[in-house]
Amino acid sequence: MKWKYVFLGIVVIAIVIQFIRPDMSLPPVNPTHTIQAVMNLPPSIDSTIHRACYDCHSNESRWPWYSQISPVSWWLKSDVTDGRNALNFSEFATMTKKKQAKRLGDASDEVKKGDMPLKLYLPMHPAAHLTDADRQAFIAWATSEKALIESTMTPAERAQKTPQPRGE
Ligand code: HEC
Repeated sequence: MKWKYVFLGIVVIAIVIQFIRPDMSLPPVNPTHTIQAVMNLPPSIDSTIHRACYDCHSNESRWPWYSQISPVSWWLKSDVTDGRNALNFSEFATMTKKKQAKRLGDASDEVKKGDMPLKLYLPMHPAAHLTDADRQAFIAWATSEKALIESTMTPAERAQKTPQPRGE
């Protein structure tokens, strides 16, 4: 008798929370703000970041069907918000050169350590899996682009203060 009410309670909660939806609409993409607008991106690297990073680090996230179900929606939305705050390829060109260089270095470090793409994301997104060759190519690209940006920075640009990303 008691269990029947517990079960009923869970069902009611599961239904009611479906009405609490985060805003999952995609922010607009301004083509002059994207990483492609300011950076030399070979097609293979462009493809790597699109398939392995863009769901969390751009304004072009592809939401899977289960992202429409609360509480999964709350969790995924918060990952995407945190991901965009840390690095947004759709807004890359709006950062100072110093910050762009820093973020490329961070991205290279994350990929080197195997921390990005997030491990929990991979089982549901096999296309985001990076081979060792993909990883090496990405690291080499990010390292050389970082050096290129730094070589074009004026002393004033070098002196700009960059807020530390979270977790450091
Ligand atoms: C499933 C979502 C997801 C995917 C896919 C993903 N990231 Fe992230 N990323 C996050 C979140 C969330 C954070 C912020 C919290 C953290 O640092 O764990 C983050 C943080 C970062 C940071 C900042 C770390 C720092 O130093 O503070 C970098 C750089 C980064 N990601 C690069 C990448 C790159 C490059 C890819 C693709 C190869 C990628 N991420 C794929 C979710 C993701």
